[in-house]
Amino acid sequence: MPDTAPETLPVLNWLEGRHDVYSREGAADLQSSIHRGLMNTFKDEAGAAAFLASDRSHWRQQAIIKSQFVMGKTFAGSILEIGAGTGWCSSLLSTLAQVDRVYCSDYDRTAVETLMPQVQKVLHAVPGKIQRVYGSFNSIPMENEVDTVVSIGALHHSENLYVTLSECFKALKPGGWLVASEPTYPDTETNKQIAARYKKEDPASVKKYGKVTRHEDNSDHYYRLSEFIAAAHSAKFDVFPFIFDLTGSRHADDRTLSERKTATGFLANVLYPYFAKNPVNPMFDTLLLVLQKPVNGGDDLHHVLSGAGRSWKSV
Ligand SMILES: C[S@@+](CC[C@H](N)C(=O)[O-])C[C@H]1O[C@@H](n2cnc3c(N)ncnc32)[C@H](O)[C@@H]1O
Repeated sequence: MPDTAPETLPVLNWLEGRHDVYSREGAADLQSSIHRGLMNTFKDEAGAAAFLASDRSHWRQQAIIKSQFVMGKTFAGSILEIGAGTGWCSSLLSTLAQVDRVYCSDYDRTAVETLMPQVQKVLHAVPGKIQRVYGSFNSIPMENEVDTVVSIGALHHSENLYVTLSECFKALKPGGWLVASEPTYPDTETNKQIAARYKKEDPASVKKYGKVTRHEDNSDHYYRLSEFIAAAHSAKFDVFPFIFDLTGSRHADDRTLSERKTATGFLANVLYPYFAKNPVNPMFDTLLLVLQKPVNGGDDLHHVLSGAGRSWKSV
């Protein structure tokens, strides 16, 4: 065997000469500061292992694993991860035998150029399968190309869910799936409550960014479930949302998921909305959102939400 590391592919730049009008000014710089901090977390294998063992990361891994029950298939072929940050999920997915290409994308240069290679190394990713992409999930230059789109805590940073989901829809092959683990709020939230939260100072901001910021500065949109579903339907997806109730505890464990599986069948195409018990302080990533691009590409859909079809004619 040659004693050389597998080839690392050069970074693709999907933002070359383009300005993403749907991203908030300055939000990528805030992400950059988080990503610089994560360089230290992923400095070696022990640091990476501690990160993956944390409650939040463990929960997110479980959501991605269990999404395969909903899709009725295992991850295979080509995957696009949007808002990948460290790229830990792309790294793990690259090790699956049936996966042959993972596009690991983010709109923060620090993440793509410096952090992702380091994370890939300590997680023993297969670099020859990973295509790093500097790009926004609001502008994806792919058509009918990938089998699966993965989002871990990224979609809720979208300033326009319809635009983002439509771009993902376009990138997917007919019959392809989008799997997202995201925070969400109950539909009973009022607009006033939502607006108040966006304007609120993020209590962790000084630690994360070295300055005081509000949730909206980082595009932290904690959308209501109905907003995710409406945007997904408008983008022509079929929608399978799962809301997990951890009874107010943020502890993520295998039992919670397997009990749901026994109790509900947790089979493909089961719609199982289940709200967090404590809507005042909901947990992160209570939503596992699984979407499918219809096998016929959705072209027969002339639903009012899709924006397809008629326009006014002057007579
Ligand atoms: C909460 S972090 C999640 C990171 C990673 N998926 C994880 O699980 O650790 C959200 C990520 O979305 C990225 N992001 C936000 N808006 C984006 C956009 N318009 N296009 C691409 N990435 C974006 C951020 O840079 C950040 O890395």
